[in-house]
Amino acid sequence: MIIVREVAQLRQAIAERRQLGTCGAKEVHGATIQQHTVGFVPTMGYLHEGHASLMQKAREMADTVVLSIFVNPIQFGPNEDLDSYPRDEARDLEVARREGVDIVFLPTVAEMYPQPTRTKIHVSALTERLCGASRPGHFDGVTTVVAKLFNMVNPDLAFFGMKDAQQVAVLQQMVTDLNMNVTIVPCPIVREADGLALSSRNVYLSAEQREQALVLSRSLFKVREVSEDGARNTFTIHQIRQMVESTIASSPLADIDYIEILTFPGLEPLLPEQRLSDVKEDIIVALAVKFGNTRLIDNIRLQKAEVLSHV
Ligand code: PAJ
Repeated sequence: MIIVREVAQLRQAIAERRQLGTCGAKEVHGATIQQHTVGFVPTMGYLHEGHASLMQKAREMADTVVLSIFVNPIQFGPNEDLDSYPRDEARDLEVARREGVDIVFLPTVAEMYPQPTRTKIHVSALTERLCGASRPGHFDGVTTVVAKLFNMVNPDLAFFGMKDAQQVAVLQQMVTDLNMNVTIVPCPIVREADGLALSSRNVYLSAEQREQALVLSRSLFKVREVSEDGARNTFTIHQIRQMVESTIASSPLADIDYIEILTFPGLEPLLPEQRLSDVKEDIIVALAVKFGNTRLIDNIRLQKAEVLSHV
């Protein structure tokens, strides 16, 4: 595994890998790709099994796997956890090695931002709801750094977790709008055995908060049950929201930031009186809940076919 800290070294290492040729023709999203493919997994480190699942998918689909680890300052607000964001480079490198990553890019802030950025990428509309509303400027920081990383790595495929479903929708929009030559591959949410979605921020939780944080996934699993139950998928969006809210409110330590039910990937709001079974698109139920200073997010995607399956 090659470890690089500078952009020039990264470009060199990738160019050398591309010259190796292909491991064989690959089937990617229905198309056969012949040339050497580069799969890219951008992260902020403190790697867990959620990140590992992206590396595994990349290993499966691409010839060369590039992982980046960079805690991107421009996506953190002034009162957010940039300074305390958990870091453990040695352990991250072990995880990367175990998952068969070829190249790890570990830039410093000065390497990524040698001068103040005067260019920002802003995706409108999709960034105004959910985490965009509670974290102003956050998504401009994400789209700008991901565009920079895409220009450095020039990947064929880039892997992102549905844990950050809005991030997937926003980045897909950016890639489409700007004709970026990369395919975004969304990957499923990885959870602990008890349902809690894996997150680097889970380490901040006290034992009591950790226990109570289970209301997030529990509330979302209830929505899944309702959607799959022919008798109950006549629930309205308002009723679904109430059900989620009351489940979360059963935890005294939970402080709800938002509970939203939107279309995916368009992130359009649904009418409260609309029945689940009448919605014509995929739906996402997304939440952000604070436990003390720790803000956790989770979501569930209901595909139209699942909602209808028992009608
Ligand atoms: P980070 O929070 O480190 O996440 C890196 C990737 O891992 C993201 O695509 C995220 O959705 C995915 N991920 C995190 N937890 C997951 C889980 N439980 N299951 C599946 N995937 C999971 O997201 C970022 O970093 C940054 O915004 C970044 C895209 C790197 C830009 O700075």
